[in-house]
Amino acid sequence: MSTQRTIFWLRQATLIGLCLPAIDLVWRWYTDDLGPRPVTLATHATGDWAVVFLLLSLAMTPLRATLDWMPLVHIRRRVGVAAALYALVHLLIYVLDQKWNLLVVATEIVKRFYLTIGFVALLALLALAVTSTSGWQKRLKRNWKRLHWLIYPAAALAILHFFIQSKVKIGEAAFAAGLFAWLMLWRVLPPRLRTSYLGLVLLAAAATLATVVFEAAWYALVNDIDPVRILAANLDSDLVPRPAHKVLLVSVAVIALVAGRRLAAATARLWTKRYIQPTISTP
Ligand code: HEM
Repeated sequence: MSTQRTIFWLRQATLIGLCLPAIDLVWRWYTDDLGPRPVTLATHATGDWAVVFLLLSLAMTPLRATLDWMPLVHIRRRVGVAAALYALVHLLIYVLDQKWNLLVVATEIVKRFYLTIGFVALLALLALAVTSTSGWQKRLKRNWKRLHWLIYPAAALAILHFFIQSKVKIGEAAFAAGLFAWLMLWRVLPPRLRTSYLGLVLLAAAATLATVVFEAAWYALVNDIDPVRILAANLDSDLVPRPAHKVLLVSVAVIALVAGRRLAAATARLWTKRYIQPTISTP
């Protein structure tokens, strides 16, 4: 398939993939299939998808570099915009939950720290979504890059918001934090290591460890639980999978994907050299 066609189909598939959670939610809302607390479930689902798409948008650059697959550049923007839109719908559902009383919503956002940081993250995501077009890129010139650097603190705030609202069940938030650690650590690796197996193995180890540290630190600071117990839980086979195990699994999956892609590329090169080139060079 030509590169243009690949990009076209990748963009269409991405658009469908980004819309599916919203379609599913609307359908379940319409058919009364959201359980006894539909608004709470919808708040949680939209928040979760906002974080998933936010992390995916941050994963585009590392994946493009490690998989050496340029078409991914063409879907980064729409994944980031989807994250902002899901977060906006998440806020709107919260507003609906407060019976559209904007004064109550504003007071709650000011009063509750986890809502305040969620709101700041949302403002940043919306600013990035609006200015993500090439028109804004030209208008803002060098400031565009500076502005879009905001994605990192915005993601950190969104994950902190996730942690705080999770109360004692922080498993999913710790998993998101571990993946975020992977994505940030990849960016601070020396360029040579970023695409090497050694770099990816180091990243897998560091992100897994970071997840254990996040989990242990959270339970120690918020619930006064001995960090050694969290460490022991991560080594207990009865308690699999912990967030750190999931981060390790994703990191290993990335390495396998990179290996598979490189193997396929090497096989294609060998095939071309052995069978295609001799045919072409024959007069
Ligand atoms: C003004 C902005 C925001 C408001 C008012 C808000 C409000 C809420 C509320 C009320 C909850 C549920 C809390 C509970 O059930 O106890 C929640 C959960 C959550 N929010 Fe937000 N949020 C905002 C921004 C964001 C943003 C920007 C993101 C991500 C990009 C986000 C991601 C999440 C996630 C992941 C959850 C947890 C879902 C789960 O537990 O499955 N929120 N938020």
